[in-house]
Amino acid sequence: MGTRHRIEVVVNGRLRVCETAGRTSLADLLRDDLGLTGTHLGCEHGVCGCCTVLFDGEPVRSCIILAAQADGHQVTTIEGVGPPGGLSPVQEAFCQAHALQCGYCTPGMVLAVHALLAANPAPARDDIDDALGGNICRCTGYVQIREAVELAARHYCSLAESSDAGR
Ligand code: FES
Ligand code: FES
Repeated sequence: MGTRHRIEVVVNGRLRVCETAGRTSLADLLRDDLGLTGTHLGCEHGVCGCCTVLFDGEPVRSCIILAAQADGHQVTTIEGVGPPGGLSPVQEAFCQAHALQCGYCTPGMVLAVHALLAANPAPARDDIDDALGGNICRCTGYVQIREAVELAARHYCSLAESSDAGR
């Protein structure tokens, strides 16, 4: 057995202390050691995007990041994007816009959309296409996914407007 590394990583707001082998990917750490199986694995080569998680708020492909690299960082998985037991507005929008079928790509898509809307609350269609260009969906089609992003963006904008009006 190779060298194991002790890492401290905040996952979905909770500090986790793990022992991990040097070659373990972040995706395997999340799924196998922490039981967060909402992070899906497809290509395991950094191509399909279905393993996307947020790493210090930025979308990354967890299949090509080593778990050891997460030491001292914050990771958000699909289990951590919504309120406990509930869905985030992005997840709600995916349901409303029928933006998923098998759902295999959906966790990665949703996390990429959270990152997009955090950086750009009112994205143009090209911005959406750019942000999701590395996330592959085999079944739903990208039109509904784009509609879901626009729906979620409108939701966040209306929240911001009502909070401004309340001041
Ligand atoms: Fe990570 Fe495909 S499983 S990019
Ligand atoms: Fe099936 Fe995207 S919903 S792969």
